[in-house]
Amino acid sequence: MLPETTVAELEQIAARYPEKRSGLLPMLHLVQSVEGRVTPEGIETCAEILEISPAEVSGVATFYTMYKRKPVGDYHVGVCTNTLCAVMGGDEIFARLKDHLDVGNDETTEEAPGKKSITLEHLECNAACDYAPVMMVNWEFMDNQTPDSAVTVVDDLRAGKEVTSTRGPRICTWREAERVLAGFPDGRVDEGPAAGEASLLGLRIAEDRGWTAPSADASGETGTEPTTAEGAAEEADTARAETETKQQEAADE
Ligand code: FES
Repeated sequence: MLPETTVAELEQIAARYPEKRSGLLPMLHLVQSVEGRVTPEGIETCAEILEISPAEVSGVATFYTMYKRKPVGDYHVGVCTNTLCAVMGGDEIFARLKDHLDVGNDETTEEAPGKKSITLEHLECNAACDYAPVMMVNWEFMDNQTPDSAVTVVDDLRAGKEVTSTRGPRICTWREAERVLAGFPDGRVDEGPAAGEASLLGLRIAEDRGWTAPSADASGETGTEPTTAEGAAEEADTARAETETKQQEAADE
C-alpha cells in the first residue's frame, strides 16, 4: 500500500492537467521516489486515479527507460556509451566502473555497512556530446570524464561525501531526484552554470565576428512577408548572399 500522503500527491499531479492521464509520467516518477521503483501497487494506484487500465500504465512504465522495475540504489550512475562518448572514452569508463563496483549493466552494488549503493547503467546519447565522454548521476551531468574521475565520483558517492554536478547542482539521492521529476522542486534548480563554455563557443564566435541569423521571414527585415514562392526564394537568396558577404568581411578583418 502506498502511503496516504503519496496517494494525495498523485491525485494532485493528475489534477494539474486538463486530461488527467497526461499526469502519468510525473506520477510514475513520484512512485519511484517513494518505492525505489515502479511497483505493482504504484501501477494499480495510478490506474485507479487516472481511470485507465493497469495494463496501460504498465505499458508506459515498461516503454521508457527512466522507469525502473528493479529497485535502484541510493544513486543511479549512467555512462553514455553512444557513438561519440564511446570513442572519446565512454566504453573505457563503463568497463572500469563495472570492474570497480563489481556489477554488470543495470545492476546495483551489494549493501555494505556505511556505504551508499549505486546502480550502474550504460546510457544512450544525453545530448551533451560537446562534453564527451559524459556520465550522469541521477540525470545530472558529469562532463568530460575519465576512468579515474569516474571512479572518484562513485567512491565519493558511496562514502556519502558531497558531490556536485559539473554543470548543475549538488547531487541528491536518486529518490530525491525522482521527486523533483514528479514536479516537486527541491530548490536546487539554479545551482551551477546554466550553460557550459563548450555549448556557448559557437555563440561567442558568432558574436566576435558579427554573425547573425537571417530573420524568420528570410528577408532580413521584420514585418515583410513575401507574397509568392518565387518571391520567398529570391528573398532567401538575397539574405544568404548578405550573410556570406558579412562572413567574408569578418574573415578578412
Ligand atoms: S554521445 Fe554521449 S552525450 Fe551524445
